[in-house]
Amino acid sequence: MRLLYEGKSKKIYDVGGDKVFVEFKDDITAFNGEKKASPPNKGKITAKISSILFEYLQTNGIPTHYLHRGERGFYARKVKILPVELVVRNVATGSIVSRLGIEKGSRFEPPLVEYFYKSDLLGDPMVCENHIIYFGWANEEELSRMKDLALKATQLLTDLLALAGLRLVDIKYEFGYDESGQLLLADEISPDTFRLWDEEGRPYDKDVFRKDLGDVVETYKEVLRRLEEALKRLSTS
Ligand code: C5P
Repeated sequence: MRLLYEGKSKKIYDVGGDKVFVEFKDDITAFNGEKKASPPNKGKITAKISSILFEYLQTNGIPTHYLHRGERGFYARKVKILPVELVVRNVATGSIVSRLGIEKGSRFEPPLVEYFYKSDLLGDPMVCENHIIYFGWANEEELSRMKDLALKATQLLTDLLALAGLRLVDIKYEFGYDESGQLLLADEISPDTFRLWDEEGRPYDKDVFRKDLGDVVETYKEVLRRLEEALKRLSTS
């Protein structure tokens, strides 16, 4: 397999044709790479959670790049990623609290969508729809399709995670075009890219690492355990 790209937490390999293998490293980073660690098994667990969630979304009508599971990762369609990240928020925490002074824990009904320009150099700044269209990062139609898919995916994941006793607080999405010109939900969906709280507001996501709140791998394993249990209950109901 030829290495195409190496990011902070993943490696992307060309496996021939229009397919890639997305391998999850044990590396975890926060604050734009300033805080780093490599806890053993983190990659394997994150890959499994991501695979399960892509399979769930795909089954429920969301077009994604995901194809099938592999060791420490998954196979996916090769895509060209658009340089815009969509964050959907059900509950206020994180950057929206520090940026706009919104009270932590406030609910967003309907969910709030924000856009960020993908740039490590600039620290992924927040942008508005005008910026995206003006600078040609996506056109109006693409933007509206991404927003629609992000909101649909968030509703599906919110409902599934509620069955696992977890509240989906916020989530980041990336989209890309495959070789046939289809717009697909891409990248990963995991506790590295969403926030989850239990009934008491305890985090089950990367905030455990960001804020030194406990063992991040054990936390991710608990997310996986609860998800598998919720899916088992769904399949027998
Ligand atoms: O930092 P902020 O509060 O804006 O993050 C919102 C959500 O998007 C969080 O779940 C965070 O983990 C995710 N995120 C991400 N990648 C980024 C920025 C945010 O996965 N570059």
